[in-house]
Amino acid sequence: MIEQQLKVGVRRARLQDASRLAELSGELGYPADFQAIRRRLRLLLKSGDHAVYVAEVPDGRVAGWIHTFIHRVLESEWRAEIGGLVVGEGFRGRGAGQLLLERAERWATQKGLRSVYLRSNVVRKAAHAFYQKRGYRRIKTQYAFLKTL
Ligand SMILES: CC(C)(COP(=O)(O)OP(=O)(O)OC[C@H]1O[C@@H](n2cnc3c(N)ncnc32)[C@H](O)[C@@H]1OP(=O)(O)O)[C@@H](O)C(=O)NCCC(=O)NCCS
Repeated sequence: MIEQQLKVGVRRARLQDASRLAELSGELGYPADFQAIRRRLRLLLKSGDHAVYVAEVPDGRVAGWIHTFIHRVLESEWRAEIGGLVVGEGFRGRGAGQLLLERAERWATQKGLRSVYLRSNVVRKAAHAFYQKRGYRRIKTQYAFLKTL
């Protein structure tokens, strides 16, 4: 596994990654067009409260991405949140997901944050096992509500 992990590198996302990030968003279940991802990415890259990292294989292909941000609320200590994490189907099981998660955790520590929070759809059983093996514990089950304006 360690040898396989060495083949994947992690770096900050760039605007030029937008189309691949959009493709991978589709695999995460959030189909988004390239222009929309590019527009959002441009704003996120300017913000010190957000970080987007990509996992890259030696030939330069982007295998996956993670977005983390500072979750600021009045009632509890500020923490990092994982907004999204996905590794392309053909690249899974090579340590890219773990490397991305570790990078996001390091970013959070550098920001002075002491915990990382994430929400994961109940149907994503493999992802739950992945997180739990990496020190994340399930703290609650909740409904998500949305109102279209
Ligand atoms: C969850 C996810 C990000 C993990 O990425 P990854 O690059 O496969 O992660 P890693 O290689 O670091 O670890 C994956 C684990 O699955 C195992 N695995 C082996 N082959 C695998 C494969 N083909 N596909 C998936 N996992 C595999 C790994 O050995 C490892 O096991 P471990 O947890 O016992 O160490 C990825 O599976 C994914 O994108 N899933 C779909 C989207 C998703 O659910 N995202 C999370 C939203 S909350």
